[in-house]
Amino acid sequence: MIHKEKEAVNFAFINDHEQILRLTNLAISKKAGSKNVIDQMSWHLHRHLYVEEKLLFTYMDLLPNDQRKSIINKTLEEHDRLLYYFRLVKRDIDNKGRLKNFRDYLHSHLDFELDGFYETLEKELTREEKKKFLNEINKPIKLGFYPIRKLRKFHLYSK
Ligand SMILES: [Fe+2]
Ligand SMILES: [Fe+2]
Repeated sequence: MIHKEKEAVNFAFINDHEQILRLTNLAISKKAGSKNVIDQMSWHLHRHLYVEEKLLFTYMDLLPNDQRKSIINKTLEEHDRLLYYFRLVKRDIDNKGRLKNFRDYLHSHLDFELDGFYETLEKELTREEKKKFLNEINKPIKLGFYPIRKLRKFHLYSK
């Protein structure tokens, strides 16, 4: 379900998804010279995965007990796979088949997260908590500063 309210976490992340998909389609439609578009995809994708995982780790206790582990594992696995498909795109930016593989996988991943995790957050987070993450997802892109491996290490192995 798509929320119309501007303050909804759903809304901000869905906008972000649409932005990444829009750039992907743009790169697919360009005959050549899509380097600039691929760079933009890269920044949006890395920031999105980083903020999303930060949100997931911070609020994992809100997820239903019996589903928590599987939601976290599936999210991280799918993010790794997205990054893998994206690395293939970057190695050969004019290869439209690779871009399409990335797009297809992104679609299936987005369906998964809209159904579960996002809905839970939308219901459970306070306005203040949502605001904090919305600020982060709406900030100007910080180049090269989304250290997803460090984030995972800190949250998963520091307890
Ligand atoms: Fe997402
Ligand atoms: Fe995701």
